[in-house]
Amino acid sequence: MKRDGQNTSLWQHLKNYEPVQIAGLDSFYDVVIVGGGMTGVVTAFMLQQTGKQCLIVEAYNLGFGTTGGTTAHLNTMMDTPYSTITKNFGIEASRRIAQGASDVISFIKDQSEKFNIDCEFEYTSAFLFSQTSEETEQLQELYNASRDAGLALEYVNQIPISASFEKAIRIGGQGKFHPLKYLFAMAREYENLGGHIMINCKVDNAQQVDGEVHISTTEGEIRTKNIIYATHIPPGINLLHLRCAPWRSYALALKLENDAYPDGLVYDLKDPYYYYRTHVVDGEKYVIAGGEDHKTGEEENTDKPFLKLRAHAERIFKIKQVSHEWSSQYFESADGLPYIGILPGNGDNVYVATGFGGNGMIYSHMAAMELASKIELNESAFYNLFAPSRVKPVAAFDNFVDHNKDVVKHFLGKFFGSEKLEALAGIAPGEGRVVKFEGHSIAVSKDLHGKVYAVSSVCTHMGCHVSWNSTEASWDCPCHGARYSMSGRVLTGPATENLQTVELTSMIEAKH
Ligand code: FES
Repeated sequence: MKRDGQNTSLWQHLKNYEPVQIAGLDSFYDVVIVGGGMTGVVTAFMLQQTGKQCLIVEAYNLGFGTTGGTTAHLNTMMDTPYSTITKNFGIEASRRIAQGASDVISFIKDQSEKFNIDCEFEYTSAFLFSQTSEETEQLQELYNASRDAGLALEYVNQIPISASFEKAIRIGGQGKFHPLKYLFAMAREYENLGGHIMINCKVDNAQQVDGEVHISTTEGEIRTKNIIYATHIPPGINLLHLRCAPWRSYALALKLENDAYPDGLVYDLKDPYYYYRTHVVDGEKYVIAGGEDHKTGEEENTDKPFLKLRAHAERIFKIKQVSHEWSSQYFESADGLPYIGILPGNGDNVYVATGFGGNGMIYSHMAAMELASKIELNESAFYNLFAPSRVKPVAAFDNFVDHNKDVVKHFLGKFFGSEKLEALAGIAPGEGRVVKFEGHSIAVSKDLHGKVYAVSSVCTHMGCHVSWNSTEASWDCPCHGARYSMSGRVLTGPATENLQTVELTSMIEAKH
């Protein structure tokens, strides 16, 4: 199946999901969900169960975005440490999130059993280990705050990988699964309940008309009472673009020389951390190794993180083969908690779910619970903890101001001065560059068959300059995470317009 990058994840051996054909889009819906990833599908399923008539609108295919590139860890230990959540939001917030995460893992297990979903769900343990005295102190802090949040954890003398460590803790009740097998099965159950799915359908515009939302798509017009943007970051220009930063994360699937596949989820305490787990696909065991995260657009050579990740994994495992390497994008929120609920400034029937950090599989389900509860009962399932309108002057926010300063830098752009366009036509296959030519800023790239593409480097969202992502062969915007194909087509929002095509040959001819 297809994903929003040229690399293939461990999950992409499945065929694209084929929705049931629907007659047309001229109906009126209770809820339209934009985005057919984990958040969109599970939210639609929960709402359809309550009797709401729902439609999922997906620009490509189900699982095209981050769900197809996740490493599918199911944790109750979140990326934002409970010590930070407690400091910023209080101990009750930590307890609710810990309980919510545990409920999500039970929900996935229950659905798998109820609908006989062969998604390889397993309960397992997570291990965190320290390798320096500073990390050992940090581990103790994590231990205390997580225990206070209600997690069952203990210090242990062994971890399931061959790495030296000072201290380690084990947390029970974690999980792992095949995200796309689960996603597709949940989509089918949603359709069995009468829910509709429209794939290859891009939303161009949505506007309020007399308390309804009227949506223009490439397949026609839709009317709905409520709209949910399950697209990571909503389109348009709004507060959340100042509150969320895009990050890129890397993963490898490894075959080993021996049988030292770890039994459990394993994390070190580096920043950003490395993590490992085992998954069996079609009877073959793989270690999934992840890490080397960086802010989108900040790594000039996006092949390098794979090499570093492999080098790190080689210190732990005897690697026979790297069978898959892939990367994907996620969004960090300003204060460490996601934004789930009414999108500020857009009416009380426009909802959003974003800022999941590295806990997308858990927060996608919490988002579904929260949004279903809001729309069905007008109640928050999580005590409004995730309200996008919250203004929390927390310590992390200062770092966020730095991110927004970076955004300003990207508005100004980075260029390769006076290179000639003819020379650019000679760039290697798989390369891309932003160049300034006769006052135009052009993003030039060449595909593996030698075809050259030239598009404007100016992101159509708010005008930052895109950066080349060599490993996934895409143009990524460092400001709010919009991504485009070589030909400039939008892969992920918040941009809704493609990059403008530049007639390269006519520019070269005009110069002569
Ligand atoms: Fe906002 Fe590009 S995503 S300017």
